[in-house]
Amino acid sequence: SDLCDQGKAQGQRVFIRADLNVPLNDAGDITEDTRVRASVPCIEMALEAGAAVMVTSHLGRPTEGQFQPGDSLAPVAKRLSELLGRDVPVVADWVDGVQVAPGQVVLLENCRVNVGEKKNQEALARKLAALCDIFVNDAFGTAHRAEGTTYGIAQYAPVACAGPLLSAEIDALQKALAAPAQPLVAIVAGSKVSTKLTILEALSHKVDQLIVGGGIANTFMLAAGLKIGKSLAEPDLVPQARAVIDAMAARGAQVPIPTDVVVAKTFAADAPATIKAATDVADDDLILDIGPETAARLAGQLKAAGTIVWNGPVGVFEFAAFENGTRTLAQAIAQSPAFSIAGGGDTLAAIAKYGIEDQVGYISTGGGAFLEVLEGKKLPAFEILEKRANG
Ligand code: 3PG
Repeated sequence: SDLCDQGKAQGQRVFIRADLNVPLNDAGDITEDTRVRASVPCIEMALEAGAAVMVTSHLGRPTEGQFQPGDSLAPVAKRLSELLGRDVPVVADWVDGVQVAPGQVVLLENCRVNVGEKKNQEALARKLAALCDIFVNDAFGTAHRAEGTTYGIAQYAPVACAGPLLSAEIDALQKALAAPAQPLVAIVAGSKVSTKLTILEALSHKVDQLIVGGGIANTFMLAAGLKIGKSLAEPDLVPQARAVIDAMAARGAQVPIPTDVVVAKTFAADAPATIKAATDVADDDLILDIGPETAARLAGQLKAAGTIVWNGPVGVFEFAAFENGTRTLAQAIAQSPAFSIAGGGDTLAAIAKYGIEDQVGYISTGGGAFLEVLEGKKLPAFEILEKRANG
């Protein structure tokens, strides 16, 4: 991509929508900066072309019209200025006009605080479009959202196109999924079945093994008739979990249910951990990881896979006593000859923790967007750019 194939960004106002929605700790420090690093090539491209560069992103899910200090992109600006080797000022209240000179870059404060952003109101979209000559969407992680800065601005900006990260992500995922080497093994883990039900259902028709973890696995354990004590689960969704298991079984594919688990009585880093058979979970137990027998069995399946898709840690890997499952699977993915594709914030954090970045075939900056591409859905923020490109 050369910024809209114009090659004419010199002196132009370029508005870049990036996804700089990164995890921050209580002190306000970025704990995982993949998205910030991934945003740099597009910004450098615009700067090198001599554009006046505006970059924005959402951070978290703030209340519209009510900016709070914790909503600020200031920590991102700091990291970005280190990576770019230049000052990156943060601009507040920017919807009605932005001062930026050619060859300079500013970071426009959290765009989701603007009234009308989430619902993509036309009045806001037209104002956003009026800020620029060229709109570049490079926010793969937010491409499943049709909001003011991901969709509306693309409708009305004089020129609108995809940035290098957005293009590369979509290309890479589509290529990897077009004809994946078999067997295809997916890991879908996380706290809730409800947020990942559509991906579980979509994958149940495609993959040979659907490995579940976290609260999702607990709901599947209930569906398999096991007791899970006071573990996190969604009993209402047991019928849906059952349907996924049955759909897989009908095709000779499997959802491997844990045969052993690591439990504790409280959710805490120092809570004593006990390994138990999956059939022995007590009423006051909390399942916080898969057990070593299950982890070893799943690792074997990952090593025999042709393609691996990974979204979500299988246990509370932030706590040393409950990280064995996630570490074992991460190491198996690293050692497997399979082409592996990983996405999601917690997954990126696990990849960084176990130092397997170089052994994963493709690391996506998307969470929800990554899952939607896996499901075969079209991403609205990309579709509008295609529409613009086709006149
Ligand atoms: C993400 O982290 O998945 C993206 O930044 C989108 O965030 P959202 O789910 O709040 O829209």
